[in-house]
Amino acid sequence: THTPRVFSGIKPSGGLTLGNYLGAIKKFVQTQDSEMETIYCVVDLHAVTVWQDPADLTHATREVAAGYLASGLDPAKSILFNQSRVSGHAELGWLFNCVARVGWMNRMTQFKEKAGKNAEKQSLGLYAYPSLMAADILLYHATHVPVGEDQKQHVELTRDIASKFNHDFKAEGFFPLPEPVIEGPATRVMNLRDGTKKMSKSGESDMERINMTDDADKIAKKFRKARTDPDALPDNYEGLKDRPEARNLVDIYAALSDTTAEAVITEYAGAGWGQFKPALADLAVDKLAPISEEMARLMADPAEIDRTLAAGADRAREIAEPILSKTFDIMGF
Ligand code: ADP
Ligand code: NA
Repeated sequence: THTPRVFSGIKPSGGLTLGNYLGAIKKFVQTQDSEMETIYCVVDLHAVTVWQDPADLTHATREVAAGYLASGLDPAKSILFNQSRVSGHAELGWLFNCVARVGWMNRMTQFKEKAGKNAEKQSLGLYAYPSLMAADILLYHATHVPVGEDQKQHVELTRDIASKFNHDFKAEGFFPLPEPVIEGPATRVMNLRDGTKKMSKSGESDMERINMTDDADKIAKKFRKARTDPDALPDNYEGLKDRPEARNLVDIYAALSDTTAEAVITEYAGAGWGQFKPALADLAVDKLAPISEEMARLMADPAEIDRTLAAGADRAREIAEPILSKTFDIMGF
């Protein structure tokens, strides 16, 4: 049996969104104070699966780190680092490319969504990315992975890779089968302009997402222009079943105020958008403004962020090295 250990990460491929905050970072902070060891990574090797301008990659890596720190992740309580500085990720990723099957990758819905009709034009890295993600998690024998709903299938694939490795190499129990931790009202924050798509930092239009660094005016404007239906809020959550845009805004409100969507509906039963949207914007500004101010302060001293990440990488390497070395051993290298 494995000691409980938490691993998760965010790609530095653009600015952080409210989806990243509610679906991931906020949960990282909550988990940090549990008994479990917590490891949070800036997964820069994943970012380059699509084109990244080198200067943008450097900036975005620091910005994700600043987002972690400004939201309350504490290098004294969690290991914070960027993936490319611990070479074990790439090494174990390769070994897992040789464990995972092409058919498994073909079933990954995120690749299909990202590649669209242009699968043949995508990088091989984008296709193989779930195998590297399995390596990220299993390099630390992590048992719990806090993520948004969109990553559930990749954590399941991680379990398949761990099982197949353990079985093929007669190493029962060597790799743990990690659990996705997907809880709370905002496990899939939707795009504000198109309620069928998730809010994403790589989305097309800035109006479709709230960035963690948006100022109060921008946040208010984006919520005011968010697509909704014309109806008032119902008096129970069931009443939002076929109203995805309305439900999304209620879910965001609930997650930001640490309550349930049911409680929000009870409070705002019968309210129109003219009342609910400004209340939501005020709440979002309340929660995000202190974080974005702290991010700006941290970003003014990039060398300090780099030092924090480098110190985290040293600690990550200490955990990773014996596990990687044992993996090579098991395989006969
Ligand atoms: P993005 O899709 O914004 O590029 P990443 O792929 O880097 O984000 O995901 C980082 C983490 O943020 C993952 O745990 C992912 O599930 C979570 N996440 C991303 N977007 C959302 C969203 N719209 N709602 C909830 N969680 C999200
Ligand atoms: Na902890």
